[in-house]
Amino acid sequence: MTAQVTGGPGIGAVPGVLPGVQVAGVSKTFRTNAGDVEALAAVDLDVPQGSFVSLVGPSGCGKSTLLRIVAGLETSSGGSVRVAGTPVDGPRKDFGMVFQQPVLLPWLTIFRNVMLPAQVARDRSPEARQRATDLLELVGLDGFQHRYPRELSGGMQQRAALVRALMSRPSLLLMDEPFGALDALTRETMNAELLRIWSETGATTLFVTHSISEAVFLSDVVVVLSGRPGRILDQVQVDLPRPRTFDVMELPEAARLTSRIRGHLHARGAVG
Ligand SMILES: Nc1ncnc2c1ncn2[C@@H]1O[C@H](COP(=O)(O)OP(=O)(O)OP(=O)(O)O)[C@@H](O)[C@H]1O
Ligand SMILES: [Mg+2]
Repeated sequence: MTAQVTGGPGIGAVPGVLPGVQVAGVSKTFRTNAGDVEALAAVDLDVPQGSFVSLVGPSGCGKSTLLRIVAGLETSSGGSVRVAGTPVDGPRKDFGMVFQQPVLLPWLTIFRNVMLPAQVARDRSPEARQRATDLLELVGLDGFQHRYPRELSGGMQQRAALVRALMSRPSLLLMDEPFGALDALTRETMNAELLRIWSETGATTLFVTHSISEAVFLSDVVVVLSGRPGRILDQVQVDLPRPRTFDVMELPEAARLTSRIRGHLHARGAVG
């Protein structure tokens, strides 16, 4: 019954045609007791609807800050963010967010954790329960619904966090180093899984990572940020064929893109 799961609002989106995320002249300065910290300087970024865009850049360059501003969790000091043409002025139900650590409530089962967004929206419909069941099946967690987070591996917990983010059929999926804490093999599996889910839901996806190869494998465009204050150094178009398997990373084009991105980061003394 995965057909129900795939019926998100993004389905049928034509990448490159409709506006997804439009970031215009966004800057951010944090005012702290120790002085001002300029995190972002005039970032302009267009993420077409339905596309997959990754952000890479040195630690502390403002990637999480930018993601949080797009999510409406943080205000910018200047500039604007629009999603599907509408200004973002706070968190929205149709945004899904996944963090580096799976933020699951330890005292709730996986099923109840996943049902939290529906519960908050006071949606106890059979459809919501069915969607949770279908999504858990989609990420291979059927059979684990009634386990507690501590009984699952890190990768399984992160899948549950992803399911929770997908529950509200997000038109925009924001992911901040979601697989950073996973071992290499689990990470590869999660990458393949994410691409499958992305292609089925059509959600515009903005993905932060430190891994250049992960960014190339997943993305339509890899955005390279400079050291703090973050500004855009390059937007690398990834024209590797889809659907992708890890074999695409053996193509000369993948090596060329990877070394172009690495070049930017090394030139500034930061390895991504
Ligand atoms: N709430 C805050 N108050 C003050 N300074 C902050 C705050 N959040 C972030 N910063 C500063 O802004 C800069 C950018 O931080 P941010 O977390 O966005 O970087 P990042 O690119 O995500 O780094 P990493 O790759 O290590 O996760 C850093 O110098 C950080 O110290
Ligand atoms: Mg960060």
